[in-house]
Amino acid sequence: MECIILAGGFGTRLRPVTNQIPKPILPLLNQPMIMHIIEKLPDIVDTVVLAVNYKKEMLEDYFRGIQEDLDKEIILVEEEEPLGTGGAIRNCKSRITDSFIVFNGDVIHSLDPAEIIAFHNEKGGIGTLAVWEVKDPTRFGIIGYDGNQRITRFLEKPTPEEVFSNSINAGTYVLEPEIFDHIEPGRKVSIEREVYPFITDSGLYAFPFQGYWVDAGTREDFLSASSTIMNYRKIEVVQGEGNIIHPDVKMVPPVILGNGCSISNAVIGPNVVLGDGTRIDKDVRIENSTLMENVLVRKGAVIQDSILGKGVDIPKKRVVEESILDV
Ligand code: GDD
Ligand code: MG
Repeated sequence: MECIILAGGFGTRLRPVTNQIPKPILPLLNQPMIMHIIEKLPDIVDTVVLAVNYKKEMLEDYFRGIQEDLDKEIILVEEEEPLGTGGAIRNCKSRITDSFIVFNGDVIHSLDPAEIIAFHNEKGGIGTLAVWEVKDPTRFGIIGYDGNQRITRFLEKPTPEEVFSNSINAGTYVLEPEIFDHIEPGRKVSIEREVYPFITDSGLYAFPFQGYWVDAGTREDFLSASSTIMNYRKIEVVQGEGNIIHPDVKMVPPVILGNGCSISNAVIGPNVVLGDGTRIDKDVRIENSTLMENVLVRKGAVIQDSILGKGVDIPKKRVVEESILDV
């Protein structure tokens, strides 16, 4: 079975760190974002097709490096021009042999892909959409469905007046190849605006699930995604290997440390992720932040609500708040 991950887009709202690393492989909890999706795929999914249009070479390099350790084939399909969600799926048609699963690459959730696949097979429709409940659905696609979980209405980005449901499209689908008959090739197509609302008669089903669902597209969302996942996994303090930690350091859970970090007597946490090779000097305070590999935070600095890219060097006593910094 094939999986398509929609991973186009520039990650504009996470600049400047996405200038250096494309968003799909930006580390979230010290693991490339896209690997949070790939690691949960069941064995029946043997091929992962990444639909991309930005920094393809960097993604290729990354997957070449880890391909040996993966039991799935990774294929990158590039669009010359962004084709939209539907167009990007259509563009992968030659790689699809049967029912397939699709993920929006910018959301991470606790849904078990095997469960939605089994549900889809049982229902036998043209598609099944994972569904999540939110308070304000106006930034999403909304879904109305009946007692048999059959989708009756789909509306992308409703205005407050148009809202008819708090069930949103969670951005994970199981689709039949017949979907391609509904997507015109060679042009930009939004599957949410131009396809789903018009195929409800072909049997489109809703699959609600519990747990967590997070979008990691902005600084706030990225940091709250880290904290949501750490809390869901009941993480307290995760120690890496080869770390040198001062006995008087204060860790406030949840905290994740990479490998080869050196931490002086600082206060770290809550909701802090430190990448490999990070050095934290004396009297530093870090809270609700992600530091990528080889970041250096010098004596007395304060880091709050921020993302620091690979190799960033924070001077003594500097206060960094609500920022994304890169070298
Ligand atoms: N390859 C490729 N080409 N990927 C694309 C393109 C494209 O032209 N356009 C968007 N994508 C990818 C994005 O990178 C993202 O992973 C996914 O498709 C969804 O696109 P977004 O641009 O992030 O859409 P959205 O967040 O406004 O809305 C979508 O996601 C919501 C859930 O987060 C819709 O699917 C909504 O219905 C849904 O509720
Ligand atoms: Mg999105």
